[in-house]
Amino acid sequence: MSAARKKVAVLISGTGSNLKALIDASADSDCPYVIDHVITNRPDAPGLIYAEGAGLARTVINHKEFASREQFDGILDGFLKSISPDIVALAGFMRILTERFIHEWQGKMTNIHPSLLPAFKGLKPQQQALDAGVAEAGCTVHWVTPGVDEGPIIAQMRVPVIAGDTAETLSARILEKEHKLYHKALKMVARGEAVFPAG
Ligand code: GAR
Repeated sequence: MSAARKKVAVLISGTGSNLKALIDASADSDCPYVIDHVITNRPDAPGLIYAEGAGLARTVINHKEFASREQFDGILDGFLKSISPDIVALAGFMRILTERFIHEWQGKMTNIHPSLLPAFKGLKPQQQALDAGVAEAGCTVHWVTPGVDEGPIIAQMRVPVIAGDTAETLSARILEKEHKLYHKALKMVARGEAVFPAG
């Protein structure tokens, strides 16, 4: 089984709770994917501790050391090609990527976003949901295409918005679902049950 497991590179910028959930869930030998590498653009990303704890290869590519977005993405692209992951999973990776980079990895790259896309793209989607007065919020895993939070949807999970919710309480309820959703979506991708739409 292990030879067939798809290699996933996880990209993080912050807390890494989604990374931790993926590490824990993929420890099961029946899991069709394995986390092969963790990459961050922030040397101080707290989530690196989970990669370290699990003994995973980890690499810091500090965006502040590059004069332009193109240069950073060029180095990230070269590094990813050197480790050749089957799947590149953005998990709280808070960088806008260049179109050129996205085209290189389109069809292999996924992202998780804390809203029911196409609703509430971009920053603070949980607050956007509260401001809009919706009864339901949730999270989405989607293929990454040019255009922030716009790619084809792989899977979603919903949560209720409860009276008195703040951005914090709603975010926590969504995050709990995110931790299940990303594993579910990566299993689908690894098994070929979710594929990037042709054309
Ligand atoms: C998660 O809620 C993720 O959906 C969000 O950042 C958080 C990262 O948490 N991503 C985005 O908003 C991307 N547009 P984590 O570092 O604990 O996994």
